[in-house]
Amino acid sequence: MATAIYVRDIAQYDGQEVTVRGWVKAKTGKGKLQFVRLRDGTGQVQCVAFKKDMDEAVFEAVKGLTQETSVIITGTVRSDERAPGYPGGYEIGITDVEVIQMAEEYPITPKEHGTEFLMDQRHLWIRSDQQWAILRIRATIIQAMRNWLDDNGFMLVDTPIITPAAGEETTTLFELDYFGEPAYLAQTGQLYNEANMMAFGRVYCFGPTFRAEKSKTRRHLIEFWMLEPEIAFCDLDELMEVEEQMVGYIVQKVLEKNHQELEMIGRDVATLEKIVAPFPRISYDEAVERLQKLYEETEDAEQKDLLKIEWGEDFGSPHETALAEMFDRPVFVYNYPSKVKAFYMQPVAGREEVCRSVDLLAPEGYGEIIGGSERIYDADLLLEKIKAQGLPPEHYEWYLQLRRYGSVPHAGFGIGIERTVAWICGLPHIRETIPYARLLNRKYP
Ligand code: 4AD
Ligand code: MG
Repeated sequence: MATAIYVRDIAQYDGQEVTVRGWVKAKTGKGKLQFVRLRDGTGQVQCVAFKKDMDEAVFEAVKGLTQETSVIITGTVRSDERAPGYPGGYEIGITDVEVIQMAEEYPITPKEHGTEFLMDQRHLWIRSDQQWAILRIRATIIQAMRNWLDDNGFMLVDTPIITPAAGEETTTLFELDYFGEPAYLAQTGQLYNEANMMAFGRVYCFGPTFRAEKSKTRRHLIEFWMLEPEIAFCDLDELMEVEEQMVGYIVQKVLEKNHQELEMIGRDVATLEKIVAPFPRISYDEAVERLQKLYEETEDAEQKDLLKIEWGEDFGSPHETALAEMFDRPVFVYNYPSKVKAFYMQPVAGREEVCRSVDLLAPEGYGEIIGGSERIYDADLLLEKIKAQGLPPEHYEWYLQLRRYGSVPHAGFGIGIERTVAWICGLPHIRETIPYARLLNRKYP
């Protein structure tokens, strides 16, 4: 009996008879010679049917295979440098084929399709090379983040998805009917992370987060995944060190593990190789000065208009793009105006109008991938900020208690998985970075 193998391991079976189980990606050939490109989830291999090498019935079965038909193919592995596939370099000389289910006419063909059509077919589209490669890189990114944190003294502590109050701005809340009472889908795990941090020192949570973003952009999802570390006795400098180490590690792991996938999606690897810590750091003040200078120097009226900024305003995507373009690796921007940031951020001593916040902006136009800050650790000040935001203090009683029972300075951040995937893969839009995107105009499939 032939051994059932996975295509990724094919090099170990040179010369042996094996079976591969998967789907027909494509079938070509004419007359006596047929080529079946088989994918099994782990890779792709070219399987060759030569009429004179097999029973007539088997050859006819191969000839009749349609795109995406599920099959079990038996054959002999032979090494051939020119053989296409992933990993490639080997092909299978077919001796037998068993059809599991003959696929109906497959809607996604090798011709060009529009994005909306492909998004409607997302449950099938994920089988395509580009999408397969992106989702594999996504898996590496998540694994690398978690490994880095686990190896650096962080503990995973889960936070709830259903919450009684807002964690960020109230304008993007998703409200639920919780047995007659309002509740909300989590915008962040941070507030619970802060409680967990007081119990375990260095913690992180990882899970889906939800924001009813009413604007349609290429950087916003309604449901996205965020990884959020929180650290006791930590200030902004230490936080930036953790961020740059972790991000550098993620990129390195993707380069190491997914070089084939990067090639499949045509990613320029040289720009990724430059992503090594330390990353440049500039204050919000300096960022505004740099943007204003750029504004003065810009001649194109439309471009100029996009760059306009006054101190105190939040950055829009064109500002972030312009700032990030000034560097060849991600750049930290710290000490934003308190007005444009969340209620829990620690004000800068002696300059209350700015806060101890830091965003990490990715190069090549990707903008903010991480948001973080030092947290207010004084109970009275925090209560004041909660009230000033118009948030109901009774919902934050437990959060305020953290500042009454052994409060410590602490800091944390949240990294958006999809924004990170978009940047590392060099994608123009965030919708392809997650298996099933939830967008303003899309919740299907
Ligand atoms: O800057 P944000 O809103 O920060 C927080 O939620 C903090 N509570 C995190 C923390 O300190 N623990 O979001 C963090 C990151 C952003 O930098 C971005 O990468 C991502 O989450 N993000 C989104 N990604 C996709 N779609 C959206 N609508 C996103 N909103 C934020
Ligand atoms: Mg942010």
